[in-house]
Amino acid sequence: MDTVTDPTRHRILTGDRPTGRLHLGHYFGTLQNRVRLQGIGVELYVVIADYQVLTDRDVADDLTGHVEELVLDYLAAGVDPARATIFTHSAVPALNQLLLPFLSLVSVAELGRNPTVKDEIAHSRQSAVSGLMFTYPVHQAADILFCKANLVPVGQDQLPHLELTRTIARRFNDRYGAGVFPEPEALLSKAPLLLGTDGTKMSKSRGNAITLAAGADETARLIKRAKTDTDRHISYDPAGRPEVSSLLLLAALCLDRTPSQVADGIGAAGSAALKKVVTEAVNEYLAPIRARRAEYARDRAHLRTVLREGNERARAVADTTLAEVRAAMNSHY
Ligand code: TRP
Repeated sequence: MDTVTDPTRHRILTGDRPTGRLHLGHYFGTLQNRVRLQGIGVELYVVIADYQVLTDRDVADDLTGHVEELVLDYLAAGVDPARATIFTHSAVPALNQLLLPFLSLVSVAELGRNPTVKDEIAHSRQSAVSGLMFTYPVHQAADILFCKANLVPVGQDQLPHLELTRTIARRFNDRYGAGVFPEPEALLSKAPLLLGTDGTKMSKSRGNAITLAAGADETARLIKRAKTDTDRHISYDPAGRPEVSSLLLLAALCLDRTPSQVADGIGAAGSAALKKVVTEAVNEYLAPIRARRAEYARDRAHLRTVLREGNERARAVADTTLAEVRAAMNSHY
């Protein structure tokens, strides 16, 4: 679905792993949608998935720093903490407790088939795959269902997790009582998969991403070394020319035009001209977001208040849902 007709009927949950700053793939994949929906009055929950960070690393990370960077990105993009609930996994015990009954509702074979998890394992630098790597999509179902969200704005790679969430909701309701959980729907944006500057999926860990926080010069440098091809005539052809097309899409999103219109404007001027158009479009689009981000970054105490209040709200909601789950499971002692 791509339109929300009655905002009051929707509750949105979405979120990110605190592994670094958010990039344009996140922004056009989901962040922009969150802010738009918040603007029309949909209730918004944003999870900072700090337990999910543990899926693929052996060493302790600067989690506090990453969490704060994420809050900065949210505020800069326009998430309003007076209306939205921004919280971290680890601060909401009742959410995490939902993992146990949810795990009982899925098979090991189902978990092993998840294409996103398979891809992450293939790209992981770890020698062994942790149990959390296999089960985090179930934990993600708890993120979504603890607040009974019915709409989840995500990128395409998250669709298997959402399908699993729907399965868990359905099986829970079948086994323990109808109507405890909604079956949430995905809300895909126009740009579910933006490629990074090396032509593979834009990703923090691949060093190919343009972050919201990056300066204009850094952005120019990244785009300058982006992969293209040797055909001087610029055309939008996602299957045949994925790298050029992804750059066109990026410019189009920033300029609010279609990728083909952007391509027509460049014509036979070649990759250098394309990169100039993309750089200007991105830097102009991000300028106000970057300015807001710098301003929020000066007030760390405010960031911590945003998180403390969000965590309190999330805990109250999770406690209510867990009480309902325990009653449905007949484990209310
Ligand atoms: N798995 C998501 C990612 O890697 C982050 C995430 C955690 C999430 N919990 C979620 C997204 C719940 C949507 C809903 O980006």
